Amino acid sequence: MSYNLLKGKTGVVFGALDEKSIAWKTAERCHEEGARLVLTNAPVAMRFGKIQELGERLDAPVIPADATSLDDLQNLFEKSMEHFGGKIDFVLHSIGMSLNVRKGRAYTDLNYDWMMKTLDISAISFHKVMQTLWKLDGMNEWGSIAALTYIAAQRVFPDYNEMAEAKALLESIARSFGYHWGMRCKVRVNTVSQSPTVTTAGSGVKGFMDFFNYAEKMSPLGNATAEECANYLVFLFSDLSRKVTMQNLFHDGGFSSMGVNPAILGMEE
Ligand SMILES: NC(=O)c1ccc[n+]([C@@H]2O[C@H](COP(=O)([O-])OP(=O)(O)OC[C@H]3O[C@@H](n4cnc5c(N)ncnc54)[C@H](O)[C@@H]3O)[C@@H](O)[C@H]2O)c1
Repeated sequence: MSYNLLKGKTGVVFGALDEKSIAWKTAERCHEEGARLVLTNAPVAMRFGKIQELGERLDAPVIPADATSLDDLQNLFEKSMEHFGGKIDFVLHSIGMSLNVRKGRAYTDLNYDWMMKTLDISAISFHKVMQTLWKLDGMNEWGSIAALTYIAAQRVFPDYNEMAEAKALLESIARSFGYHWGMRCKVRVNTVSQSPTVTTAGSGVKGFMDFFNYAEKMSPLGNATAEECANYLVFLFSDLSRKVTMQNLFHDGGFSSMGVNPAILGMEE
């Protein structure tokens, strides 16, 4: 169902890899709500070919960009503004990758070159995205920028490994840059802390399905799905959330406020 919440708005969406991706669902919902979009992902992700299908369906150009490359980002935003014939109203950063997790390294045995790469891809890229837009003066007044994060930034989830540090940095960048954007042109910057979600990045974490089931039971409302996350992001990109900025917003069915849920201990009536 469409409420036309994004009618006339323009947005750049990072991170749609396949139909499970949170960014994929978000791009679909934003399109339904009337936004014009540009889709982007790392050049290697283009090889899967899926994002091209989405682009055709949503009438959105697909412009490859490695989010750690300032040249790629500059090209992406210049081309996006050319396509839109003006500035950008919203941006979604939906990017995460950990080399140490991917290569099975324990938190107590990290390879630091890989860790630097993880921080660059998963967190500093958010700064690079915003700094590139800042220098191009690429955001419209009252625009909205959001990135996806996870509660391991605040609490310990051992299997999340070095991504915990990446997410803590990402959330800090949202607050710090949020100040500058707000002062300059009323643009808001937030992170959405999402429930475990079955996607390529999510399922890469060790023991993911056990943890997914645990979080499902712990949360009074159950885990938030990728579709529900897309709806929440539509709200954040719409004019209904204009004064929400520099926040880490939990979208997790209540998980972050729970201590113990008797349902997990098998104590339910
Ligand atoms: N799935 C979960 O359980 C979960 C929970 C909370 C937060 N998140 C976050 O949501 C975001 C999206 O992940 P997802 O779960 O949809 O998985 P996904 O695997 O579909 O998306 C991750 C994306 O990052 C892209 N990417 C990786 N390296 C890149 C680079 N150098 N430049 C540009 N793009 C690059 C990938 O191509 C992919 O599209 C991530 O930030 C993730 O950490 C996921």
